[in-house]
Amino acid sequence: MLHANIIKAATPEEAGKLAADVFEALIRTKPACLLGLATGSTPLPLYRELIAREKAGKIDFSRVRSANLDEYKGLGPDHPQSYRYFMQDNLFNHISIKPENTIVPDGLATDPEAMFAAYENQIEAWGGVDLQLLGIGHDGHIGFNEPCDHFPKMTHEVELTAMTREANKRFFASLDEVPTAAFTMGIGTVMAARKVMLIATGADKKEILHKSFFGPVTPEVPASILQFHPDVTVICDAAAWGE
Ligand code: F6R
Repeated sequence: MLHANIIKAATPEEAGKLAADVFEALIRTKPACLLGLATGSTPLPLYRELIAREKAGKIDFSRVRSANLDEYKGLGPDHPQSYRYFMQDNLFNHISIKPENTIVPDGLATDPEAMFAAYENQIEAWGGVDLQLLGIGHDGHIGFNEPCDHFPKMTHEVELTAMTREANKRFFASLDEVPTAAFTMGIGTVMAARKVMLIATGADKKEILHKSFFGPVTPEVPASILQFHPDVTVICDAAAWGE
């Protein structure tokens, strides 16, 4: 492993609190910061904690901006399994962030290439991502950057692997309903963030966590590229670390 601060928490809830400390410190020092956000089960304790901290007057989201990692192709904001819907439901509707200050790739884009360019341009116009939050897939994906033979640079379209569709079917009525493609920030977009925080919780993440941070850097394990990022913090619970 080349770089990465690894913080071990006892439980997913404690991991969420430790992650919230980093978010709180950033938002206090830079109220108009740009957060890179993720969906999935992993960030939920963090999002609950951030909501509680704003209600307690510790954080103010009114000037914060956010850019999400990814979205399913074909799902619009009103679809309960879309990532835009997830973000509204689990975070944005409960904090003071302004709707115009949040972006999620448009799953219904009719001209995806134009949408990708606009997405990257908006991130740049907002000054770049200050803190990029990541979960990790069982195959090492970050965002929806699946194992492949290169590290994709910019926001782009991906075919989802069978493993990812299988892992995400828990949110859908059946596997058939899980979209087969998605739009995601590229590895280059993620690597351009000034600070990266990856959270991994649960015993099922142990193997891929170790492979990503202690194994060779390879596009076959997309998260392994984070070994080359100068400011990465990994927050894991005891189960993901292997205790
Ligand atoms: C979600 C995302 C994905 C998830 C990963 C882990 O926006 O980009 O890479 O972080 O699939 O998902 P969970 O947290 O549900 O295990």
